[in-house]
Amino acid sequence: MKINLANIKKARNLLNKRECVAIPTETVYGIAGNAYSDTACKKIFRLKKRPMNNPLIIHYYDLKKLKDDCDLNVDFLKLYKRFCPGPITFILNQKKKSKISKIATNKKNTLAVRFPKHPVARILLKHLKFPIAAPSANISSRVSAVTSSDVKDDFGKKIKYILEGGRSSVGVESTIIDLRKKPKILRLGGLEVETLQKILKKKILININPSKISAPGQLRIHYSPGIPIRLNVKKIKKDEAFLLIKKNRINKTNYYFLSKKGDLKEAAKNLYTILRKIKKDNYKSIAVDKIPNIGIGKTINDRLLRASKF
Ligand code: TXA
Ligand code: MG
Repeated sequence: MKINLANIKKARNLLNKRECVAIPTETVYGIAGNAYSDTACKKIFRLKKRPMNNPLIIHYYDLKKLKDDCDLNVDFLKLYKRFCPGPITFILNQKKKSKISKIATNKKNTLAVRFPKHPVARILLKHLKFPIAAPSANISSRVSAVTSSDVKDDFGKKIKYILEGGRSSVGVESTIIDLRKKPKILRLGGLEVETLQKILKKKILININPSKISAPGQLRIHYSPGIPIRLNVKKIKKDEAFLLIKKNRINKTNYYFLSKKGDLKEAAKNLYTILRKIKKDNYKSIAVDKIPNIGIGKTINDRLLRASKF
């Protein structure tokens, strides 16, 4: 993708004026605002109709500004060195002197921080004097946006500007790991837990369905395309769309393939686009093939399971 600096400048000018803009990241598009500004953060919540008690992820260019806001620990530094920028979000203890808006954090003393890899997001962050608060750019509880036109479909003219960045390369949200005590996964995502384990060399707890919700990505109903989904289907019902992991020779209009050869990364990248497409094609329900529950396949299954609770 060719990078358009004039567009990045336009986004920067709006952010400097405490406006919200949609920005591309390698996971999904986000609705961005100045993380130091209550005004900007309030606008994000209003736009998304997001409950105020659901805190936002704060996006940084690198460690420099983060050091003012968080206590950095050994596990964090290990993972940062290996995977950042990239599709991972860390929960850390916030410093008292941190300037991050209390609106963004819901007055918690923790912070969710991430370093997006998308080149457009990186250039933008590099040229801002503040970090960016950004939730996924979709209507609450629905499928996230992975292209600028998805964002347009969801927000229309309500959003001042959408910074073009092509299709998000990972296609599912970042993995969230709480590193305050024993490492604990709060949301499966773009980075596989097995990969994180290899670097941390210690047990990583998985807490993606807690009785007390601390990350609404953990809510059971989420990521919904707006129509019912059935999982692990071998035989579809009449009029259902059939979502398959791997292309086969049956060339029916109601068959949708997540990847050519069953590649799970490719499937994750295509997941939200295809769910949106099926809805647009006017199907009233979706049957899903069995998806291998390994690597990023676990993230795909997590999203489809939550979407199936619709
Ligand atoms: O890939 C991503 O992470 C995307 C892109 C735009 O960066 N962002 C994203 O944001 O998925 P959002 O708001 O849709 O999901 C963020 C999740 C929410 O479930 C929120 O509750 C949780 O992170 N979260 C934010 N701050 C937290 C905190 N201090 N402790 C625990 N969870 C937190
Ligand atoms: Mg979201």
